[in-house]
Amino acid sequence: MTQAPVENVDPAAVAALPKAELHLHIEGTLEPELILALAARNGITLPFPTLEALREQYEFTDLQSFLNLYYANMAVLITEADFTDMTGAYLARAKESGVRHAEIMFDPQAHVARGVELSTAVNGIAAALATSEADFGITTGLIAAFLRDESEESALAVLEQLLAMNAPIIGIGLDSAEVGNPPSKFIRLFKRAAQAGLRLVAHAGEEGPPSYIEDALDLLGVERIDHGIRAVEDKYLVKRLVAEQVPLTVCPLSNVRLRTVDTLAAHPLPQMITAGLNVCVNSDDPAYFGGYVGANFAALVAEFEWDSATVELLAANSIRSSFASDERKQQLLGELAAWSAAQD
Ligand code: ADE
Ligand code: ZN
Repeated sequence: MTQAPVENVDPAAVAALPKAELHLHIEGTLEPELILALAARNGITLPFPTLEALREQYEFTDLQSFLNLYYANMAVLITEADFTDMTGAYLARAKESGVRHAEIMFDPQAHVARGVELSTAVNGIAAALATSEADFGITTGLIAAFLRDESEESALAVLEQLLAMNAPIIGIGLDSAEVGNPPSKFIRLFKRAAQAGLRLVAHAGEEGPPSYIEDALDLLGVERIDHGIRAVEDKYLVKRLVAEQVPLTVCPLSNVRLRTVDTLAAHPLPQMITAGLNVCVNSDDPAYFGGYVGANFAALVAEFEWDSATVELLAANSIRSSFASDERKQQLLGELAAWSAAQD
């Protein structure tokens, strides 16, 4: 039987595709221009004081080479207004990418370690999120991500501080240098967060082995895995993730820029979709990796010549895998159905 040729989805339509972004580090949205502007505002001298010199640093060989620059650039975040401006700039760009709901991670320990009060970071970010629906039509949730290359004690102390100050967080995550820092290091942290009623996510299987994904599920009780691309190396794990429909928040441009995959063409996402895994597309650290979630979708559509049904599936997965209310999910799935109908 011959099939009618499938129409590739129009790039403009992909930008308008209603979607949720579930894997986003707010500190990874600091664009070079904003880094320099905040440095000037706060009287900070950066090691790379011009746009040209700064941009030259954006060539990464692995996760650690990126993290070095990512943490160094946070030096410009001093006041609540800095955190508010960074978050507002992300929301404006997310809107252009069709994001209708965003779950945003921040790295509290990275700020405390620099001598910035926890309340400065939390209140600054929260101020922008408080008006995100009115300003940009984006509902949001804030996730405190803990640094897995720091001790569990340090994470527990900061979590207790966040709880004591009633920080408006919906959950906790686990990020930073993965290899050598397995989920088993953070069992008490995740138990405490669960007890406090927080939602649980963790990076796993970005650079680390498939066993870290299994351990994040079994030892930490996470509800979503950030990245998870190395799951494809273990067919039993894939079977389980499909059966349980565990959400995997995949970040294709990040994986290319951090060289976890050689090229976008070699990315396992098409294989993951075919296997029936619950995958969605996210930008991770868009200021560092060549674009926001719309750019990730655009690059994927160009590379894999996807039709509208494929991008619709990815957007539906993102909405269903979010921690938004059932009412908000239904609303966004309705918007997605309307988008789909307009493609015919
Ligand atoms: N922190 C910010 N981006 C990260 C990533 N891609 N992996 C681990 N930790 C991160
Ligand atoms: Zn990440």
